[in-house]
Amino acid sequence: MTDLPANIPPEKTPRHVAMIMDGNGRWALQRGLPRLAGHKAGTENLRRIIRATVEFGVKYLTIYAFSTENWGRPAEEVNGLMLILQNVIDRELKELHAEGVQLRHIGRLERLDPAVQKKVLRAIDLTKNNQRLILNVAFNYGGRDEIVNAIQRIVKEGIPADEVNDELVSRYLFTVGVPDPDLIVRTSGELRISNFLIWQAAYSEWYVTPTLWPDFDKEEYRRALQTYANRDRRYGKVSSGELQGSNA
Ligand code: FPP
Repeated sequence: MTDLPANIPPEKTPRHVAMIMDGNGRWALQRGLPRLAGHKAGTENLRRIIRATVEFGVKYLTIYAFSTENWGRPAEEVNGLMLILQNVIDRELKELHAEGVQLRHIGRLERLDPAVQKKVLRAIDLTKNNQRLILNVAFNYGGRDEIVNAIQRIVKEGIPADEVNDELVSRYLFTVGVPDPDLIVRTSGELRISNFLIWQAAYSEWYVTPTLWPDFDKEEYRRALQTYANRDRRYGKVSSGELQGSNA
């Protein structure tokens, strides 16, 4: 059963929501805990948010779990995030699969430890036919790295310059086959894109909240969807209401 947020018709529900899960470190600091405790609380929250995404009828969810820049964090935190990824797969894969969630990875898998790569590839393979929710995990992901990778492959394949257009570039990105995000949620109040889906976000709507990621709950998610439903998406044009008014 789809539990649509109050007053949101299905056609106003975003097809693809992407989330920058920021503020785990501050959440921990406020409690006098190590940063990794914040990431663990953030992981617990992620379970709830995935469940809510299915309930709300959103078909694609992309989460920013580890950026190409995150390697610059202290080794203990980097290793902790690698372990979290493995634990999430070990503990949650069965249930995610049973719930019809398809796992995909975006980013550079080949730069991760071989054991982690194997686990991720196994999870992707197991869930590849699931269609209820497509969950893209951005891990060792960077938007610029993704575009550089796309350009390299386009050049290597000898594609003529005049055949390179928006649609072709999109097919060379890690997100091939996934519609661009309709809504990007960023927790913890920072007003920046942080190298996340920089190509795909061209016309995404944003919901930025001061709430720290571990505290971003289903009710606030519902509010984010309601805010989105009230937006007038114009894609650089004028609103459909104005067009009708001017007989254009
Ligand atoms: C940003 O908060 C958060 C991250 C870099 C990691 C996000 C990871 C999770 C929520 C765990 C789920 C992970 C997987 C692999 C499924 P921050 O540490 O930058 O917070 P701060 O800005 O307050 O320091």
